[in-house]
Amino acid sequence: MPSTVLVGAQWGDEGKGKITDLIAGDYDYVVRFQGGNNAGHTVIHGDKELALHLMPSGVMYEHAVPVIGNGVVVDPGVLVKEMAMLEAEGIPCGNLKISCDAHVIMPYHKDLDGADEKWLGSQQIGTTKRGIGPCYQDKMGRKGIRIQDLLDEKIFRLKLEHVLAQKNPILERIYGLHTYTVDEICEEYLPFSRILKPYMAETAQLLNDALRSGKNILFEGAQGTLLDIDHGTYPYVTSSSCCAGGAATGTGVGPTRIDRVLGIQKAYVTRVGGGPFPTELVFEEDGGSGQDAIDGETLCRVGHEFGVTTGRKRRCGWFDAVIGRYAGEVNGLTDVALTKLDVLSAFDTIKVCVAYECEGKRYDYFPMQQSVLFHARPIYEELPGWKDVDITGCRTYEELPANTRAYVEYIEEATGVPTSIISVGPDRDQTLFRRR
Ligand code: GDP
Ligand code: IMO
Ligand code: MG
Repeated sequence: MPSTVLVGAQWGDEGKGKITDLIAGDYDYVVRFQGGNNAGHTVIHGDKELALHLMPSGVMYEHAVPVIGNGVVVDPGVLVKEMAMLEAEGIPCGNLKISCDAHVIMPYHKDLDGADEKWLGSQQIGTTKRGIGPCYQDKMGRKGIRIQDLLDEKIFRLKLEHVLAQKNPILERIYGLHTYTVDEICEEYLPFSRILKPYMAETAQLLNDALRSGKNILFEGAQGTLLDIDHGTYPYVTSSSCCAGGAATGTGVGPTRIDRVLGIQKAYVTRVGGGPFPTELVFEEDGGSGQDAIDGETLCRVGHEFGVTTGRKRRCGWFDAVIGRYAGEVNGLTDVALTKLDVLSAFDTIKVCVAYECEGKRYDYFPMQQSVLFHARPIYEELPGWKDVDITGCRTYEELPANTRAYVEYIEEATGVPTSIISVGPDRDQTLFRRR
Protein backbone atom coordinates (compact mmCIF):
# COMPACT_ATOMS: atom_id res chain seq x y z
CA MET A 1 0.00 0.00 0.00
CA PRO A 2 1.56 3.36 -1.01
CA SER A 3 0.35 5.12 2.12
CA THR A 4 -0.81 3.62 5.38
CA VAL A 5 -1.92 5.36 8.55
CA LEU A 6 -1.30 3.38 11.74
CA VAL A 7 -3.34 4.45 14.78
CA GLY A 8 -3.99 3.29 18.32
CA ALA A 9 -7.53 1.93 18.60
CA GLN A 10 -7.82 2.22 22.41
CA TRP A 11 -6.18 4.48 25.06
CA GLY A 12 -2.60 4.19 23.79
CA ASP A 13 0.18 1.66 24.43
CA GLU A 14 -1.42 -0.88 22.10
CA GLY A 15 1.94 -1.87 20.61
CA LYS A 16 2.16 0.78 17.87
CA GLY A 17 5.96 0.86 18.15
CA LYS A 18 6.30 -2.88 17.59
CA ILE A 19 3.91 -2.95 14.61
CA THR A 20 5.41 0.19 13.02
CA ASP A 21 8.87 -1.32 13.32
CA LEU A 22 7.54 -4.62 11.98
CA ILE A 23 6.07 -3.20 8.76
CA ALA A 24 8.31 -0.14 8.29
CA GLY A 25 10.63 -2.18 6.06
CA ASP A 26 7.95 -1.92 3.33
CA TYR A 27 7.94 1.89 3.44
CA ASP A 28 10.27 4.67 2.28
CA TYR A 29 9.12 7.25 4.84
CA VAL A 30 7.83 6.78 8.41
CA VAL A 31 6.09 9.90 9.71
CA ARG A 32 4.91 11.04 13.13
CA PHE A 33 1.93 13.40 12.70
CA GLN A 34 0.79 14.40 16.19
CA GLY A 35 1.63 14.27 19.88
CA GLY A 36 5.11 14.71 21.23
CA ASN A 37 7.30 13.03 23.79
CA ASN A 38 4.23 12.01 25.78
CA ALA A 39 4.44 8.94 23.51
CA GLY A 40 6.52 5.94 24.49
CA HIS A 41 6.90 3.44 21.65
CA THR A 42 8.86 0.30 22.38
CA VAL A 43 10.96 -1.36 19.71
CA ILE A 44 13.28 -4.30 20.20
CA HIS A 45 16.84 -3.87 18.98
CA GLY A 46 18.92 -7.02 19.36
CA ASP A 47 18.39 -8.04 22.96
CA LYS A 48 17.52 -4.50 24.06
CA GLU A 49 14.22 -2.70 24.44
CA LEU A 50 14.41 0.87 23.14
CA ALA A 51 11.81 3.48 24.07
CA LEU A 52 11.18 6.04 21.36
CA HIS A 53 9.37 9.22 22.34
CA LEU A 54 9.75 11.51 19.33
CA MET A 55 11.69 9.63 16.70
CA PRO A 56 9.44 7.66 14.32
CA SER A 57 9.84 3.92 14.89
CA GLY A 58 10.94 3.50 11.25
CA VAL A 59 14.36 4.85 12.28
CA MET A 60 15.40 1.23 12.81
CA TYR A 61 15.61 0.76 9.01
CA GLU A 62 18.41 2.60 7.26
CA HIS A 63 16.47 3.07 4.02
CA ALA A 64 13.36 4.56 5.66
CA VAL A 65 13.36 8.33 6.14
CA PRO A 66 11.97 9.28 9.57
CA VAL A 67 9.88 12.45 9.44
CA ILE A 68 8.49 14.59 12.27
CA GLY A 69 5.45 16.27 10.73
CA ASN A 70 3.96 19.70 11.36
CA GLY A 71 1.31 18.31 13.73
CA VAL A 72 3.91 17.14 16.27
CA VAL A 73 5.03 19.25 19.23
CA VAL A 74 8.79 19.02 19.67
CA ASP A 75 10.83 19.35 22.84
CA PRO A 76 14.21 19.99 21.19
CA GLY A 77 16.25 18.89 24.20
CA VAL A 78 14.44 15.55 24.26
CA LEU A 79 14.92 15.07 20.53
CA VAL A 80 18.64 15.81 20.68
CA LYS A 81 19.03 13.32 23.57
CA GLU A 82 17.03 10.65 21.76
CA MET A 83 19.16 11.04 18.64
CA ALA A 84 22.31 10.66 20.74
CA MET A 85 20.88 7.54 22.42
CA LEU A 86 20.09 5.99 19.03
CA GLU A 87 23.47 6.87 17.53
CA ALA A 88 25.12 5.26 20.59
CA GLU A 89 23.12 2.11 19.85
CA GLY A 90 24.47 2.13 16.30
CA ILE A 91 21.20 3.41 14.77
CA PRO A 92 21.93 6.35 12.47
CA CYS A 93 19.54 9.34 12.53
CA GLY A 94 21.11 11.29 9.67
CA ASN A 95 18.02 10.92 7.45
CA LEU A 96 15.68 12.61 9.92
CA LYS A 97 13.49 15.43 8.61
CA ILE A 98 11.70 17.84 10.96
CA SER A 99 8.88 20.08 9.79
CA CYS A 100 9.64 23.78 10.11
CA ASP A 101 5.97 24.25 11.05
CA ALA A 102 6.04 21.91 14.06
CA HIS A 103 5.54 23.74 17.35
CA VAL A 104 8.20 23.84 20.05
CA ILE A 105 7.61 22.81 23.67
CA MET A 106 9.01 25.62 25.81
CA PRO A 107 10.10 25.43 29.48
CA TYR A 108 6.99 27.32 30.62
CA HIS A 109 4.75 24.75 28.89
CA LYS A 110 6.17 22.04 31.15
CA ASP A 111 5.70 24.20 34.26
CA LEU A 112 2.13 25.04 33.28
CA ASP A 113 1.31 21.37 32.60
CA GLY A 114 2.27 20.47 36.18
CA ALA A 115 0.53 23.56 37.60
CA ASP A 116 -2.70 22.86 35.67
CA GLU A 117 -2.78 19.35 37.06
CA LYS A 118 -2.34 20.61 40.61
CA TRP A 119 -5.12 23.12 40.06
CA LEU A 120 -7.44 20.34 38.84
CA GLY A 121 -6.92 18.43 42.10
CA SER A 122 -9.08 15.31 42.21
CA GLN A 123 -10.22 16.00 38.61
CA GLN A 124 -6.66 15.80 37.30
CA ILE A 125 -6.08 14.15 33.94
CA GLY A 126 -2.88 12.40 34.92
CA THR A 127 -0.87 13.95 32.10
CA THR A 128 2.70 12.97 31.33
CA LYS A 129 3.74 16.52 32.41
CA ARG A 130 5.75 16.94 29.22
CA GLY A 131 4.10 20.29 28.37
CA ILE A 132 1.95 18.82 25.61
CA GLY A 133 -1.38 20.48 26.49
CA PRO A 134 0.00 23.98 27.10
CA CYS A 135 2.05 23.82 23.86
CA TYR A 136 -1.02 22.89 21.79
CA GLN A 137 -2.98 25.62 23.62
CA ASP A 138 -0.47 28.19 22.40
CA LYS A 139 -0.58 26.72 18.90
CA MET A 140 -4.36 27.10 18.74
CA GLY A 141 -4.13 30.47 20.50
CA ARG A 142 -1.75 31.59 17.73
CA LYS A 143 1.10 32.47 20.05
CA GLY A 144 3.16 29.33 19.65
CA ILE A 145 6.82 29.20 18.73
CA ARG A 146 7.63 27.01 15.75
CA ILE A 147 10.74 25.12 14.72
CA GLN A 148 11.37 27.72 11.98
CA ASP A 149 11.51 30.47 14.62
CA LEU A 150 14.64 28.83 16.02
CA LEU A 151 16.43 29.59 12.76
CA ASP A 152 16.50 33.31 13.31
CA GLU A 153 17.68 34.53 16.71
CA LYS A 154 16.15 37.98 16.18
CA ILE A 155 12.68 36.58 15.47
CA PHE A 156 13.01 34.02 18.27
CA ARG A 157 13.87 36.78 20.76
CA LEU A 158 11.02 39.02 19.59
CA LYS A 159 8.45 36.24 19.88
CA LEU A 160 9.77 35.18 23.26
CA GLU A 161 9.65 38.71 24.59
CA HIS A 162 6.03 39.00 23.56
CA VAL A 163 4.98 35.62 24.93
CA LEU A 164 6.87 35.98 28.22
CA ALA A 165 5.10 39.27 28.90
CA GLN A 166 1.97 37.14 29.20
CA LYS A 167 3.39 33.88 30.61
CA ASN A 168 5.50 35.34 33.40
CA PRO A 169 2.61 36.98 35.27
CA ILE A 170 0.59 33.77 34.93
CA LEU A 171 3.48 31.68 36.24
CA GLU A 172 4.23 34.04 39.09
CA ARG A 173 0.90 35.48 40.17
CA ILE A 174 -1.47 32.59 39.54
CA TYR A 175 0.75 29.63 40.26
CA GLY A 176 3.56 31.09 42.37
CA LEU A 177 6.18 29.65 40.03
CA HIS A 178 9.47 31.12 38.82
CA THR A 179 9.55 33.33 35.72
CA TYR A 180 11.83 33.26 32.66
CA THR A 181 14.02 35.79 30.87
CA VAL A 182 14.51 35.84 27.12
CA ASP A 183 18.25 35.38 27.65
CA GLU A 184 17.99 32.25 29.74
CA ILE A 185 15.64 30.54 27.26
CA CYS A 186 17.89 31.56 24.35
CA GLU A 187 20.87 30.11 26.17
CA GLU A 188 19.08 26.79 26.52
CA TYR A 189 17.33 26.58 23.13
CA LEU A 190 19.65 28.18 20.57
CA PRO A 191 22.31 25.46 20.88
CA PHE A 192 19.57 22.90 20.09
CA SER A 193 18.60 24.89 17.04
CA ARG A 194 22.19 24.73 15.77
CA ILE A 195 22.16 20.92 16.17
CA LEU A 196 18.72 20.45 14.58
CA LYS A 197 19.08 22.94 11.69
CA PRO A 198 20.42 20.39 9.16
CA TYR A 199 17.31 18.25 9.70
CA MET A 200 14.70 20.99 9.26
CA ALA A 201 12.73 20.68 6.04
CA GLU A 202 9.57 21.52 4.12
CA THR A 203 8.10 18.14 4.97
CA ALA A 204 4.66 18.55 3.30
CA GLN A 205 6.35 19.13 -0.04
CA LEU A 206 8.83 16.32 0.62
CA LEU A 207 6.05 13.81 1.30
CA ASN A 208 3.84 14.88 -1.61
CA ASP A 209 6.84 14.68 -3.97
CA ALA A 210 7.59 11.23 -2.57
CA LEU A 211 4.06 9.98 -3.25
CA ARG A 212 4.20 11.43 -6.77
CA SER A 213 7.36 9.48 -7.48
CA GLY A 214 5.80 6.20 -6.31
CA LYS A 215 7.29 5.99 -2.80
CA ASN A 216 5.47 4.44 0.16
CA ILE A 217 4.64 6.32 3.35
CA LEU A 218 3.73 4.99 6.80
CA PHE A 219 2.10 7.48 9.17
CA GLU A 220 2.79 6.43 12.77
CA GLY A 221 0.13 7.58 15.21
CA ALA A 222 0.82 8.19 18.87
CA GLN A 223 -1.62 7.83 21.80
CA GLY A 224 -4.94 6.34 20.67
CA THR A 225 -8.51 6.90 19.49
CA LEU A 226 -9.96 7.44 22.97
CA LEU A 227 -7.25 10.00 23.81
CA ASP A 228 -8.12 12.06 20.72
CA ILE A 229 -9.09 15.66 21.54
CA ASP A 230 -12.33 15.36 19.53
CA HIS A 231 -13.26 11.70 19.60
CA GLY A 232 -11.79 10.62 22.93
CA THR A 233 -13.10 10.63 26.48
CA TYR A 234 -12.85 14.43 26.84
CA PRO A 235 -11.52 16.03 29.03
CA TYR A 236 -9.50 12.91 29.91
CA VAL A 237 -7.64 13.01 26.62
CA THR A 238 -4.45 14.37 25.15
CA SER A 239 -4.45 17.65 23.21
CA SER A 240 -3.93 16.37 19.67
CA SER A 241 -5.79 14.57 16.87
CA CYS A 242 -4.67 10.98 17.36
CA CYS A 243 -7.27 9.53 14.99
CA ALA A 244 -6.55 8.83 11.34
CA GLY A 245 -7.74 12.26 10.18
CA GLY A 246 -4.84 13.78 12.11
CA ALA A 247 -2.42 12.20 9.63
CA ALA A 248 -3.64 14.56 6.90
CA THR A 249 -3.63 17.78 8.93
CA GLY A 250 -0.47 16.77 10.77
CA THR A 251 1.60 16.27 7.60
CA GLY A 252 0.06 18.15 4.70
CA VAL A 253 -0.73 14.97 2.77
CA GLY A 254 -4.36 15.06 1.64
CA PRO A 255 -6.87 12.43 2.81
CA THR A 256 -7.40 11.21 -0.77
CA ARG A 257 -3.77 10.00 -0.76
CA ILE A 258 -4.32 7.56 2.11
CA ASP A 259 -4.91 3.95 1.10
CA ARG A 260 -5.01 1.97 4.31
CA VAL A 261 -5.81 2.73 7.97
CA LEU A 262 -4.41 0.07 10.27
CA GLY A 263 -5.69 0.14 13.86
CA ILE A 264 -3.61 -1.34 16.64
CA GLN A 265 -5.59 -2.92 19.45
CA LYS A 266 -4.57 -5.02 22.41
CA ALA A 267 -6.36 -8.31 23.07
CA TYR A 268 -7.45 -6.56 26.30
CA VAL A 269 -7.50 -2.87 27.24
CA THR A 270 -5.22 -0.62 29.29
CA ARG A 271 -5.29 3.03 30.25
CA VAL A 272 -2.80 5.34 31.98
CA GLY A 273 -4.11 8.40 33.81
CA GLY A 274 -7.63 9.37 34.87
CA GLY A 275 -11.00 9.08 33.16
CA PRO A 276 -13.75 6.54 32.51
CA PHE A 277 -12.86 2.94 31.64
CA PRO A 278 -15.94 0.68 31.61
CA THR A 279 -14.17 -2.71 31.54
CA GLU A 280 -11.53 -1.79 34.11
CA LEU A 281 -10.62 -4.54 36.56
CA VAL A 282 -9.83 -2.25 39.46
CA PHE A 283 -6.68 -3.17 41.41
CA GLU A 284 -7.01 -3.84 45.13
CA GLU A 285 -4.87 -0.78 45.93
CA ASP A 286 -7.41 1.36 44.03
CA GLY A 287 -10.43 -0.05 45.87
CA GLY A 288 -11.13 -3.18 43.79
CA SER A 289 -11.75 -6.63 45.21
CA GLY A 290 -12.47 -10.26 44.42
CA GLN A 291 -11.81 -12.04 41.12
CA ASP A 292 -11.86 -8.79 39.13
CA ALA A 293 -8.94 -7.35 41.14
CA ILE A 294 -7.05 -10.65 40.74
CA ASP A 295 -7.66 -10.68 36.96
CA GLY A 296 -6.59 -7.04 36.68
CA GLU A 297 -3.34 -7.79 38.54
CA THR A 298 -2.76 -10.80 36.28
CA LEU A 299 -3.12 -8.70 33.12
CA CYS A 300 -0.76 -6.08 34.56
CA ARG A 301 1.86 -8.61 35.70
CA VAL A 302 1.83 -10.90 32.67
CA GLY A 303 1.51 -8.01 30.21
CA HIS A 304 4.20 -5.90 32.01
CA GLU A 305 1.76 -3.01 31.96
CA PHE A 306 3.93 -0.17 33.17
CA GLY A 307 4.22 3.11 31.25
CA VAL A 308 7.20 3.55 28.94
CA THR A 309 7.24 7.33 29.46
CA THR A 310 6.35 7.74 33.13
CA GLY A 311 6.73 4.23 34.60
CA ARG A 312 3.17 4.40 35.97
CA LYS A 313 1.18 1.19 36.46
CA ARG A 314 -1.41 0.95 33.67
CA ARG A 315 -5.04 0.31 34.57
CA CYS A 316 -6.16 -2.97 32.95
CA GLY A 317 -9.46 -4.45 31.77
CA TRP A 318 -11.14 -6.91 29.40
CA PHE A 319 -11.43 -6.27 25.66
CA ASP A 320 -14.17 -3.78 24.86
CA ALA A 321 -15.91 -4.35 21.52
CA VAL A 322 -17.92 -1.12 21.85
CA ILE A 323 -14.62 0.74 21.71
CA GLY A 324 -13.44 -1.53 18.88
CA ARG A 325 -16.50 -0.69 16.76
CA TYR A 326 -16.18 3.03 17.56
CA ALA A 327 -12.48 3.05 16.65
CA GLY A 328 -13.36 1.27 13.41
CA GLU A 329 -15.76 4.05 12.49
CA VAL A 330 -14.03 7.24 13.59
CA ASN A 331 -10.77 6.15 11.97
CA GLY A 332 -12.24 4.34 8.99
CA LEU A 333 -10.09 1.32 9.87
CA THR A 334 -9.43 -1.04 6.98
CA ASP A 335 -7.91 -3.69 9.27
CA VAL A 336 -6.36 -4.15 12.69
CA ALA A 337 -3.31 -5.67 14.32
CA LEU A 338 -4.31 -7.54 17.48
CA THR A 339 -1.43 -7.43 19.97
CA LYS A 340 -0.47 -9.13 23.23
CA LEU A 341 -2.69 -12.13 22.56
CA ASP A 342 -0.09 -14.25 24.41
CA VAL A 343 -0.95 -12.46 27.68
CA LEU A 344 -4.41 -14.06 27.69
CA SER A 345 -2.83 -17.54 28.06
CA ALA A 346 -2.99 -16.78 31.79
CA PHE A 347 -6.78 -17.21 31.99
CA ASP A 348 -9.27 -20.10 32.16
CA THR A 349 -11.97 -18.01 30.51
CA ILE A 350 -11.84 -14.60 28.87
CA LYS A 351 -14.48 -11.89 28.89
CA VAL A 352 -15.36 -9.55 26.03
CA CYS A 353 -17.58 -6.53 26.57
CA VAL A 354 -20.21 -6.44 23.80
CA ALA A 355 -22.34 -3.50 25.00
CA TYR A 356 -22.91 -1.24 28.02
CA GLU A 357 -25.85 -0.92 30.35
CA CYS A 358 -26.67 2.31 32.16
CA GLU A 359 -29.88 3.02 34.10
CA GLY A 360 -31.70 0.16 32.39
CA LYS A 361 -30.69 1.25 28.88
CA ARG A 362 -28.45 -0.80 26.59
CA TYR A 363 -25.72 0.99 24.62
CA ASP A 364 -24.28 -0.80 21.59
CA TYR A 365 -22.64 2.38 20.32
CA PHE A 366 -20.15 4.53 22.21
CA PRO A 367 -22.37 6.73 24.44
CA MET A 368 -22.72 10.38 23.55
CA GLN A 369 -22.66 11.57 27.15
CA GLN A 370 -19.57 11.25 29.28
CA SER A 371 -21.73 10.70 32.37
CA VAL A 372 -23.15 7.53 30.78
CA LEU A 373 -19.66 6.24 30.10
CA PHE A 374 -18.65 6.91 33.71
CA HIS A 375 -21.54 4.80 34.99
CA ALA A 376 -21.65 2.23 32.18
CA ARG A 377 -21.74 -1.39 33.30
CA PRO A 378 -20.18 -3.73 30.76
CA ILE A 379 -22.32 -6.54 29.32
CA TYR A 380 -19.93 -9.46 28.89
CA GLU A 381 -19.72 -12.60 26.80
CA GLU A 382 -17.42 -15.17 28.41
CA LEU A 383 -15.28 -17.21 26.03
CA PRO A 384 -13.27 -20.36 26.78
CA GLY A 385 -9.54 -19.67 27.16
CA TRP A 386 -6.41 -21.65 26.23
CA LYS A 387 -4.87 -21.52 29.70
CA ASP A 388 -1.17 -22.32 29.97
CA VAL A 389 -0.78 -23.04 26.26
CA ASP A 390 2.26 -21.02 25.23
CA ILE A 391 1.41 -19.35 21.92
CA THR A 392 4.51 -17.13 21.75
CA GLY A 393 6.16 -19.61 19.36
CA CYS A 394 3.23 -19.78 16.89
CA ARG A 395 4.07 -18.32 13.49
CA THR A 396 0.96 -19.12 11.45
CA TYR A 397 -2.70 -18.59 12.24
CA GLU A 398 -3.37 -22.30 11.89
CA GLU A 399 -0.83 -23.12 14.65
CA LEU A 400 -2.88 -21.20 17.23
CA PRO A 401 -5.13 -23.30 19.50
CA ALA A 402 -8.74 -23.54 18.32
CA ASN A 403 -9.97 -21.44 21.28
CA THR A 404 -7.46 -18.68 20.44
CA ARG A 405 -8.68 -18.56 16.85
CA ALA A 406 -12.26 -18.54 18.10
CA TYR A 407 -11.38 -15.53 20.32
CA VAL A 408 -9.82 -13.63 17.39
CA GLU A 409 -12.80 -14.39 15.16
CA TYR A 410 -15.23 -13.40 17.91
CA ILE A 411 -13.54 -10.00 18.23
CA GLU A 412 -13.57 -9.53 14.46
CA GLU A 413 -17.28 -10.28 14.35
CA ALA A 414 -18.04 -8.05 17.36
CA THR A 415 -16.06 -5.05 16.09
CA GLY A 416 -16.69 -5.46 12.37
CA VAL A 417 -13.01 -4.95 11.49
CA PRO A 418 -10.81 -7.74 10.03
CA THR A 419 -7.59 -8.70 11.84
CA SER A 420 -4.64 -8.75 9.44
CA ILE A 421 -1.80 -9.06 11.97
CA ILE A 422 -1.61 -10.96 15.27
CA SER A 423 1.17 -10.32 17.76
CA VAL A 424 2.13 -13.04 20.24
CA GLY A 425 5.22 -11.46 21.82
CA PRO A 426 7.31 -8.27 21.77
CA ASP A 427 9.83 -9.43 19.14
CA ARG A 428 9.45 -8.69 15.44
CA ASP A 429 9.26 -12.38 14.59
CA GLN A 430 6.55 -13.10 17.19
CA THR A 431 3.93 -12.12 14.66
CA LEU A 432 1.45 -13.86 12.40
CA PHE A 433 0.22 -12.27 9.18
CA ARG A 434 -3.26 -13.27 8.07
CA ARG A 435 -3.15 -10.95 5.07
CA ARG A 436 -0.58 -8.34 4.12
P1 GDP B 1 2.89 1.82 22.02
O1 GDP B 1 2.92 3.06 22.83
O2 GDP B 1 1.56 1.60 21.37
O3 GDP B 1 4.02 1.72 21.03
O4 GDP B 1 3.07 0.62 23.04
P2 GDP B 1 4.16 0.55 24.25
O5 GDP B 1 5.50 0.32 23.64
O6 GDP B 1 3.98 1.70 25.15
O7 GDP B 1 3.63 -0.72 25.05
C1 GDP B 1 3.55 -1.97 24.46
C2 GDP B 1 4.41 -2.95 25.25
O8 GDP B 1 4.03 -4.27 24.92
C3 GDP B 1 5.89 -2.87 24.94
O9 GDP B 1 6.62 -3.19 26.10
C4 GDP B 1 6.09 -3.94 23.87
O10 GDP B 1 7.41 -4.46 23.85
C5 GDP B 1 5.11 -4.99 24.35
N1 GDP B 1 4.50 -5.81 23.29
C6 GDP B 1 4.12 -5.44 22.04
N2 GDP B 1 3.48 -6.46 21.42
C7 GDP B 1 3.45 -7.49 22.30
C8 GDP B 1 2.89 -8.81 22.28
O11 GDP B 1 2.27 -9.24 21.31
N3 GDP B 1 3.05 -9.57 23.40
C9 GDP B 1 3.70 -9.13 24.49
N4 GDP B 1 3.80 -9.95 25.55
N5 GDP B 1 4.24 -7.90 24.57
C10 GDP B 1 4.12 -7.08 23.49
P1 IMO C 1 1.63 6.15 23.36
O1 IMO C 1 1.94 6.82 22.04
C1 IMO C 1 -0.90 6.09 26.90
C2 IMO C 1 -2.31 9.97 28.40
C3 IMO C 1 -1.79 10.44 29.74
C4 IMO C 1 -2.99 11.23 30.22
C5 IMO C 1 -3.50 11.88 28.94
C6 IMO C 1 -3.04 13.31 28.73
O2 IMO C 1 2.81 5.57 24.03
O3 IMO C 1 0.49 5.22 23.21
P2 IMO C 1 -0.70 14.37 28.01
O4 IMO C 1 0.64 14.32 28.65
O5 IMO C 1 -0.71 13.83 26.62
O6 IMO C 1 -1.35 15.72 28.08
O7 IMO C 1 -1.63 13.39 28.91
O8 IMO C 1 -3.04 11.06 27.88
N1 IMO C 1 -1.25 9.63 27.41
C7 IMO C 1 -0.94 8.38 27.04
N2 IMO C 1 -1.40 7.19 27.50
N3 IMO C 1 -0.02 6.13 25.89
C8 IMO C 1 0.43 7.31 25.40
O9 IMO C 1 1.21 7.40 24.31
C9 IMO C 1 0.00 8.51 26.01
N4 IMO C 1 0.25 9.82 25.81
C10 IMO C 1 -0.53 10.48 26.66
O10 IMO C 1 -1.51 9.35 30.58
O11 IMO C 1 -3.99 10.35 30.69
MG1 MG D 1 3.38 3.73 24.75
